[in-house]
Amino acid sequence: MAMKIEAIHDKSAHLEVVKKLWRSHSNTLGFLPDGGFQDYARDRHVVVALDGADQCVGYLLYRVVRDRAAIAQFCIAPECRRQGYARALIDWLISKTKKNRGILLTCCRHYTAARTWERLGFHAVSEKPSKAEGSTGRTRASSTVWPVVRASGLGGDEPGLGFR
Ligand SMILES: CC(C)(COP(=O)(O)OP(=O)(O)OC[C@H]1O[C@@H](n2cnc3c(N)ncnc32)[C@H](O)[C@@H]1OP(=O)(O)O)[C@@H](O)C(=O)NCCC(=O)NCCS
Repeated sequence: MAMKIEAIHDKSAHLEVVKKLWRSHSNTLGFLPDGGFQDYARDRHVVVALDGADQCVGYLLYRVVRDRAAIAQFCIAPECRRQGYARALIDWLISKTKKNRGILLTCCRHYTAARTWERLGFHAVSEKPSKAEGSTGRTRASSTVWPVVRASGLGGDEPGLGFR
């Protein structure tokens, strides 16, 4: 299967597909204000996975904060899961952020997606209360922080690197 990974700009036609995927998964992907996707795209921080017909089947959004890449959203279209698209996106991100100290991902442990992170080289280091669910005043569900482990040892698998 031919797949392509690329960072898109804010005028890319793929951005509409990205927003559609986000709308249909906003319960797990979280909120992004109007114009948020354009802002990420202007920084070339919207990365899409394209299938053999150049159709967008998934994406990730990331930013760089204090020398670390942080994944803000990550989604593959349901009909295209388990085909290696997420792995290809992560491999791309690892190759483009080599100069950074690691890649951080925060995700609720009870999401199905959480089964994927260790397979992709992330490991859980800490828990923090979820702002969204905590603000209801009811259950304070926790999010798990998952930095990627880099083969080079620069990925922040040591607590001293501050992935907290
Ligand atoms: C999480 C997600 C991005 C994974 O995408 P994907 O394209 O299916 O992942 P891949 O095919 O690249 O698989 C990567 C690895 O995870 C494993 N994996 C994928 N889905 C899995 C599942 N549901 N359960 C267990 N393992 C899983 C794969 O087997 C593979 O491991 P392997 O290569 O060692 O066999 C996708 O399921 C998704 O978009 N989920 C909904 C959105 C979401 O919840 N995002 C995260 C919010 S925090």
